[in-house]
Amino acid sequence: SPSDPDLVERARAAKEKLGDKVFVLGHHYQRDEVIQFADVTGDSFKLAKDAAAKPEAEYIVFCGVHFMAESADILTSDDQKVVLPDLAAGCSMADMATAEQVAECWDVLTEAGIAEQVVPVSYMNSSADIKAFTGKHGGTICTSSNAKRALDWAFEQGEKVLFLPDQHLGRNTAVRDMGLSLDDCVLYNPHKPNGGLTVEELRNAKMILWRGHCSVHGRFSLDSVNDVRERIPGVNVLVHPECKHEVVAAADHVGSTEYIIKTLEAAPAGSKWAIGTELNLVRRVANAHPDKEVVFLDKTVCFCSTMNRIDLPHLVWALESLAEGNLVNRIEVDKETESFAKLALERMLALP
Ligand code: 13P
Ligand code: SF4
Repeated sequence: SPSDPDLVERARAAKEKLGDKVFVLGHHYQRDEVIQFADVTGDSFKLAKDAAAKPEAEYIVFCGVHFMAESADILTSDDQKVVLPDLAAGCSMADMATAEQVAECWDVLTEAGIAEQVVPVSYMNSSADIKAFTGKHGGTICTSSNAKRALDWAFEQGEKVLFLPDQHLGRNTAVRDMGLSLDDCVLYNPHKPNGGLTVEELRNAKMILWRGHCSVHGRFSLDSVNDVRERIPGVNVLVHPECKHEVVAAADHVGSTEYIIKTLEAAPAGSKWAIGTELNLVRRVANAHPDKEVVFLDKTVCFCSTMNRIDLPHLVWALESLAEGNLVNRIEVDKETESFAKLALERMLALP
């Protein structure tokens, strides 16, 4: 069993044997059994920065999902090796934009005569190929904690933004933070010819949103918000910006996983919170604040199944293999992709 004291002891021993050679990063959606071994925890932005903070570590064990490990590889030196304890820990949202589909989209924009006005902004939750496309076409990466700054920057570079692959983060940021209207946004469907859009619609749009979403956050609904407000009078609704627009519009606070943690730390004793994000994080926050009432926004929504693939047995296996000198599950982005993806990531890191 994952809470097996023997496995806990083995993870501890392997980490001790590796010493400064290993640096373990843990995303806030990771299981408790894994997060206890993380040297640092964070949201996607913080982890991207932290990955580069230990240049002396030979191995970076990334407890998170594939696109995060790729980003860590891009941002660290060539002799640092990034390890993902389970290679099947992907992200269904990142998979919703493939390099072929995005290249085809760019052709559509070119044919409509607008490609020169378009700046791509890609969410961190995308493959290294999509980040490379973004870098090649003068765009930047963003995370849920800097999406507004990324859009401010992008609209200084061009008149239109192609936002990949999360339609919700794109729409929420445009409407909530940038003062754009829903009519300024169009939805590009990669499964339809020309994205399912007319040339007229593309020319009139300010935000071209890719039709991708997070399967976990997509399940919170306006009903979830209304129900919890009825059940718990005075509740503060706090959601992640990957939630649908109507959910975000009805919430009191919106932000990244790190923002959610900080908000609860600053909240007064006795305050009531309904949180709309992944369950490992909500549980941890609830346990950390017994003096506050913390509930899950909707009980039918649960863990991110791919984040949860990183469990204690996989972590023990990865750490013990490294301690024995076997490099397992390395995530390595090829040089060509890396150079363009790095451009886009560095633009994000340089955002004001
Ligand atoms: P943040 O931790 O950046 O808020 O991202 C959430 C997420 O869905 C990561 O996959
Ligand atoms: Fe991807 Fe959603 Fe899981 Fe984040 S929570 S890793 S966006 S599927």
